[in-house]
Parts: sequence; C-alpha cells; structure tokens
Amino acid sequence: MSGSGGPTAVVLAAGEGKRLKSRTTKVLHPVAGRPMLAHVLAALEGSGAATRAVVVAASRRDEIAEAMVGHGFADITYVVQDPPRGTGDAVRVAVEALRPSGDVLVLPGDTPLVTRSTVQRVLEAKRSSGAAAVLVAARVASSDSGRIVRAEDGSVSEIVEVKDATAEQLSIDEINAGIYVFEAPLLEAMLGKIDDANAQGEYYLTDVIGLLFRDGHRIEAVEADAAEVGGVNSRAQLAQVIRSMRDRVSERWLEEGVTIIDPSSTFIDPTVELAPDVVIHPFSFLEGSTTVAEGAEIGPQTRIVDSSVGPGAVVTFAVVRGCTIGSEASVGPFASLRAGTHVGERARAGTFVETKASTIGEDSKVPHLSYIGDAEIGRGVNVGAGTITCNWDGSGKHGTVIDDDAYIGSDTMLVAPVHIGERAATGAGAVVRGEVPADSLAVGVPARVIEGKGDKMRRGSRPVSSKAAESDRPDSADGSGG
Ligand code: UD1
Ligand code: CA
Repeated sequence: MSGSGGPTAVVLAAGEGKRLKSRTTKVLHPVAGRPMLAHVLAALEGSGAATRAVVVAASRRDEIAEAMVGHGFADITYVVQDPPRGTGDAVRVAVEALRPSGDVLVLPGDTPLVTRSTVQRVLEAKRSSGAAAVLVAARVASSDSGRIVRAEDGSVSEIVEVKDATAEQLSIDEINAGIYVFEAPLLEAMLGKIDDANAQGEYYLTDVIGLLFRDGHRIEAVEADAAEVGGVNSRAQLAQVIRSMRDRVSERWLEEGVTIIDPSSTFIDPTVELAPDVVIHPFSFLEGSTTVAEGAEIGPQTRIVDSSVGPGAVVTFAVVRGCTIGSEASVGPFASLRAGTHVGERARAGTFVETKASTIGEDSKVPHLSYIGDAEIGRGVNVGAGTITCNWDGSGKHGTVIDDDAYIGSDTMLVAPVHIGERAATGAGAVVRGEVPADSLAVGVPARVIEGKGDKMRRGSRPVSSKAAESDRPDSADGSGG
C-alpha cells in the first residue's frame, strides 16, 4: 500500500512504555478524553499524508485498533512489530509491509501535543529544501529526548540518545521531537545498516540520521515549540502533557469569547465546541462531543459528557451524559441527567433530580427530589417534589406519558405503564397506574388515623431525641410542587 502518491505516514505505537508501569499500553493512555495515539492521528488528519500506518505490537493490535475506531479513526492500516526492538526496527517493519515509494513521515505515538501545523511544516520543508531528510527540533534546557548534533554548516549530522551521550552532548539544548520526513529508498537502505550496539540494546531510528550524513546527504530541521513535542515516557510527563493540553484548549476558548472563571480547575476536551459568552465556573468538566450554545452558564462542579446545552441554559452542580438541554432551561443543583434525557426550552430538572431516557417538555418543571425514567412529559407540566416514575416492574421497563399542562402532586408514584391526560392532576402521595383521563384528578390512599397509638412510635428500644421525633412526623404535604 503506497497510497495515492502523497507521503506515507507511519506512527510508532509498539513501545511497551515500561516507564509508565501500567497494564495499559502507553499510546492508549488518555489525554483530555482521548488516547495519546488518537491525538497524533488527529494532527495527521488533513496533513496530506496518504497512508496512515500504525506500528503496533502483536498482542496489542486489536486493543489499539478498537480504541481508535471508538475515537473516530477507522481507516488505519496496522502493521505488527513483534517483539518491539526499537524505533528503527519499528520503521523497518512498516516500510517492509507498506513498500512506500515517495516520502515517509514518521511520528511517535506518544507525543499527543503535536499540531497539524507542525506536521505540515515538516512536510513542506522536505518538499522545498531538497534535503534528504527533515526532522522537527525544539529548544529545551533539560530533557530525556535525543540531542541534535549540528555539522559546521549548520545542518544536522547526528542524533545522540541521552543514555549514549557524552557530558558535552548532554549539554546541547536542541532536542529531537521524533518527527521526521525521509525519502523511502534512502530510509530503507539506511535501516538495513543500523544495529543495536548502544546503551539500550535497541535499533534506533535516530541512527539513520547519522548514517545519511556520513553518506553525504543533507539533513535539515524545522523548529517547533518545546511544549508541543514533549513525549510521554513517565507518569510525570503524562501529567504535564495533560496540563498543557488543558491550557491549550482553554486559551483557544478564551480567545473565542468564552468566560472561564478559573482555567486551572476547568477541564475541556479538545473535541468540545463552545459559543461566545458561555460562562464556565470552576471545577467543571466538558467532555466528548459536548456543545454549549451562546450565553449558557455551566458549573460550578458540573460534568457534561456527549451532550448539547442550548443558548442561555444554566447547568449547575450536575452530571449530564448523552442529553440535550434546551435554550433557557435549568438543570441542578445536584441533578444527574442520564443518557437520552431531553430537557425542553425553559424547562427545569432541579435539585436532587435523576432522569433517564426521558423528555421534559417545554416550560415543564421537575423541581425537586424526583426520579424520571422512560417518561415523556409534555409542555407546561409541573411535577411535585418526590415524584417517581416506577418504570421497572421486576421483569421489564415501562413508559410514563404525561400530557401537556398536567399537574402531578408531591410524592406521586407513577407506576408504569401509565398515562396522565392533558390538564389532569394527581394528589399528594397518589399511587397511579393505567390511565388518568384528561381534566380528571387522581387521588390515592389517604393514611388511616388510629387514635391513641401515636405514643408507640416513641417506645422503641433506641432512645429518640425530641428533635428526631419531630422530624419523623409526616408532613402535611398539599400536593404543590413548589
Ligand atoms: C525517541 C527518540 C528520541 C526522541 C524522542 C522524542 C529513538 C531511538 N529515540 O526516544 O531521539 O527525542 O523519541 O519523543 O528513536 N516504539 C515502537 N517500537 C519500538 C520502540 C518504540 O513502536 O520498538 C514507539 C513507542 O511506542 C513510541 C515511539 O516509538 O510511541 C518512541 O519510542 P520511545 O521508547 O518513547 O522513544 P524515546 O526514548 O522517547
Ligand atoms: Ca517517547
């Protein structure tokens, strides 16, 4: 496979990542909601590279492919390097499988901060410079990255790994980002010459640079921002990369007119879309395919995953997953909106409310202490405090339908399947099943009064304080939802 004439891209992902001490393979460690490798593939997207090959170790191939499909990268060719014997060996395996003819772009799978523009710059430099290879360099005072050694004419002559470097070479502050563009035939020839006679006993891709130079070829470098090319070899570097990614994303949205009260405690995935005048309060998490429309207010302490929030909506102290929230709607504080919840325009899912696979229609309110599951609530409905849809009967789930302008009294048990007609009402504490026709009132089970037995409640084995006894008394709820 050599694609349609453009450069062939090879992403290296077979390294074991021993320094992370993890069961999870290194390139699948998440940064801002997606695996490191998916960030690299995203940077590659649209760069003009024709074939995207990912080199993986045998046992990890399916795991990596599955994760990439889950993050929208289905169209990848995988090549197996087993066992992983170094970056040079990985590229050799890829080149043997792909037989590229033109330029070969190589990227490490563990540098998730790399940008599309850097990928484009190195490809462009290769096209315009006439050099045999171009690589990406960065200026960093201290690093575990390979050091770039320059020849007298300023071109690159060699890359030396930290473990093989002399003290003098270690003091070089120009490092190798691990991103290169080679010419396929030269690359193939030099890969045939590298060996593993070095401190790590690995086949280094970096040795190809020195071999090219000694063979009389010219190698150039383009410089990238150091923050962009930091590879992840350790958990400390992973934490740093996660922080840099977060800063990059918040800087972008601040630029676009979003207010982020405290960027250091706000976590926005790069896949999220925000509109101007959105306000995000501290300790909030916006994840996955979430979109937030103009003027909406999020947080504090809110997590929104794969959901859309309409203009002017307010979501506070809430967890929202797989939902749509209409314009001017209000959610929380302390609400959990689960998958398939639709909160209509100006509707409300309030305090201590849990919802699932339900619609709360326009201008309808579920203000306090409710579970709403598998329910279709029409417009202008008021659902009183403590109302619950009893959607599970022990063997299956059933739906609740509440038509427009109905009024559900406090603590109503809606035993599904149940249908409340337009403008119908239920009394406080009603247990309702079946059909309540439009305009009718369903009242349920008033408590029986048993005279002279009240004292029994205070004669239990455990002493009851007068305060606790007070709060044990049933409220005289009147069915208003408040
Ligand atoms: C490598 C470079 C170093 C550069 C740094 C930039 C070499 C020898 N060194 O070092 O000069 O500064 O990247 O980040 O290339 N991999 C495989 N198969 C293997 C070994 C590694 O696919 O057999 C993959 C890893 O999964 C990783 C990438 O190649 O994504 C780089 O490997 P890593 O071991 O992290 O190299 P570094 O020591 O960081
Ligand atoms: Ca690395």
